[in-house]
Amino acid sequence: MLQTKKLNAFYGGAHVIFDTSLHIRQGEFVGLFGRNGSGKSSMFRAFMGLKPPLITGEIIFKGKDITGLPSHQIANQGLGWVPEERKIFPNLSVRRNLLLGVKSAGKNGGGHKRSFGLPEAYHYFPKLEQIQNRLGNQLSGGEQQMLTIARTMMGNPDLVLFDEPTEGLAPNIARDVLNMILEIRKDFQVTAVVVEQFSQHLLPYLDRCYVMEHGEVIFEGCPKTLADDEALQRKLLGVG
Ligand SMILES: Nc1ncnc2c1ncn2[C@@H]1O[C@H](COP(=O)(O)OP(=O)(O)O)[C@@H](O)[C@H]1O
Ligand SMILES: [Mg+2]
Repeated sequence: MLQTKKLNAFYGGAHVIFDTSLHIRQGEFVGLFGRNGSGKSSMFRAFMGLKPPLITGEIIFKGKDITGLPSHQIANQGLGWVPEERKIFPNLSVRRNLLLGVKSAGKNGGGHKRSFGLPEAYHYFPKLEQIQNRLGNQLSGGEQQMLTIARTMMGNPDLVLFDEPTEGLAPNIARDVLNMILEIRKDFQVTAVVVEQFSQHLLPYLDRCYVMEHGEVIFEGCPKTLADDEALQRKLLGVG
């Protein structure tokens, strides 16, 4: 569904992603792990056509070369992004924020997929219905994260990129958010990549994992291999 070929990314003169070639197959749930600064968010920004970074190499999405396309076109082709910084509109209500996630109809999927609209947003995140008139700047971190996920889903993407979705959340809220991601993924058959520094909790649900270090992919394999590799985990967590 998504494939990169020798992808390189730069912020001005700073080269931050080096010759990465990775692939995400339809239906997969893939983890992309790495310590802070290893290039995970830059990789997602490159997929989304957001500059910086400047990129070289190729990004193929659903068989089409999307390298260099404007970001809105990439989103309209069915690539959804839940950014690390959440990007809530502070002066708009929760409901208006959600409706901004709607993409022009008929572009995504084959029409066989169940559609995700406002009723679904409120079904999966009942809290958002309760606070639907609250402004973006009045939300807690957990509410912002739920809103960002629901808003991305309102675009009915084929592939969703989650950038550290549980970062900064209290453990019980983080667990709720993760459970929602798992449930939505199952119910709507969306392919997904989740970026985290490392998440033991996520491993049992993943089909495959990548690990990045200093802008390079240093591991690709099944979660079981990563679960058994304590040295690599210590490296990811920055201990030992
Ligand atoms: N806007 C920017 N300008 C210059 N360098 C940046 C910018 N954003 C990130 N970087 C650099 O790119 C590298 C990768 O960062 P990032 O993709 O944010 O990593 P991660 O998401 O894995 O923490 C880091 O060295 C970081 O300092
Ligand atoms: Mg990041």
